[in-house]
Amino acid sequence: MTQGKKRIVSGMRPTGPLHLGHFFGVLVNWVRLQAEYDCFFFVADWHAMTSEYADPRMIKGFVPELVKDWIASGLDPEKCVIFQQSRIKEHAELHLILSMLTPLSWLERNPTYKEMRQELIQKDLNTYGFLGYPVLMASDILMYTPEAVPVGQDQLPHLELTREIARRFNHLNGELFPEPKALLTEEAKLPGLDGRKMSKSYGNGIYLSETMDQVRPKVMGMLTDKARMRKTDPGDPEVCNLFPYHRLMTDAAKCAEIREGCLAASWGCVDCKKLLIESMERFLGPIHARRAALEGDPDRLMSILARGNDRAREFSRRTMRRVRERLNFQYDL
Ligand code: TRP
Repeated sequence: MTQGKKRIVSGMRPTGPLHLGHFFGVLVNWVRLQAEYDCFFFVADWHAMTSEYADPRMIKGFVPELVKDWIASGLDPEKCVIFQQSRIKEHAELHLILSMLTPLSWLERNPTYKEMRQELIQKDLNTYGFLGYPVLMASDILMYTPEAVPVGQDQLPHLELTREIARRFNHLNGELFPEPKALLTEEAKLPGLDGRKMSKSYGNGIYLSETMDQVRPKVMGMLTDKARMRKTDPGDPEVCNLFPYHRLMTDAAKCAEIREGCLAASWGCVDCKKLLIESMERFLGPIHARRAALEGDPDRLMSILARGNDRAREFSRRTMRRVRERLNFQYDL
């Protein structure tokens, strides 16, 4: 960590493997931010429990996998602090304290809360913990007194609540928590294999942990321009599901060539897919190599997490000392 750099905090729930949608939507951004900020990135395993409380045993397995996906994507544990939420008990303490001063009405009107409850209708989310999700999130964030929080659009209401909670704490107890800004990450630039949003529940993703042998048939089966029935029909890269992939993984000159070829029908979808596979091999090569190195050295992964947890804990302890002082809840021993 470098003195004087601004700080950011962000987290992800360990509920499954990450796909290319996460990579281009979130991780590219995180990797870029490492150079500019002191970054705290954490695995939000307690947050995963809000929806997985009935079977929390699966969460544990996803924790190291998530960290592997992050490092494979280019997060550098020398440059950022990577840690696990549940290992820093201070988050739970701050959550409890903030829950005391958070009005119920703020939580009940949260649009993300209403949406998620409807979306996950098969899970009973009528719990105290789920309603308090944003309070836990506020604790994760305020603990590290960050300048900003990189989040997607869907998390904005939560971040606004964090700011409101900070303001209320400051108002009641004196200025302690700066209000963090949102560093908005752009909307996903990559559709799923079938053209819908890339999502685990649609089964239309390419995962960072997949081998090229698993990826190749997926690419060959991808949906292209539906109106292009024969190779001799001209296609339209703007409606084709493959082209956004080329845009992100194939170099610009080649992309221009593909575009021409498609519009002029001098180039078929199978050719286009084969070329995408080549681009992916090049693009995913370093990601796969970094993951393989971690797979072969489990001790390294554990020591990265242990070191990150230590650094996060040290920071959290300092924050909590200040919080307790404000509340006159210092420990005597
Ligand atoms: N709610 C976030 C999500 O679902 C995960 C998260 C938990 C988070 N705590 C956070 C993100 C703090 C940013 C900062 O993706």
